[in-house]
Amino acid sequence: MDRHELGEELLTGHPLIDHQHQTLLALIDGMAEAVESGANWSMLQPRLQLFLRLLEEHFRSEEQVMREQYYPDYAQHRAVHQQLLAQARRWNLSETEHAPALEELLNVLYEVVLRHVEEEDLPLAFFMRRQARC
Ligand SMILES: [Fe+2]
Repeated sequence: MDRHELGEELLTGHPLIDHQHQTLLALIDGMAEAVESGANWSMLQPRLQLFLRLLEEHFRSEEQVMREQYYPDYAQHRAVHQQLLAQARRWNLSETEHAPALEELLNVLYEVVLRHVEEEDLPLAFFMRRQARC
């Protein structure tokens, strides 16, 4: 599995938010490496739980930034956070017959982070830059 870099086009320009995105991606990269070396669900549990905690913390940080900026799409962005967290929590619990394969789960986590940055965070970044100019 390839490592995932946060390219310049996905940077928001907000140091904390960008740092958190990078940390989340690095954590998934580490899990992907572990899976390639044969790690199973139970071996990955501590890191999956850590990912979930960091994702929650990241979303809280973003929501605080949005409130501070009086971001007009706050409610919609927050709803996406809640939806993504619910999804991540369902899959992180443990291996069940409904759980996706580990590789598939990690791909979904990459998607969760990267697509969220692209679709929700970049419009927020654009808004913050515009506000800063006013
Ligand atoms: Fe984000």
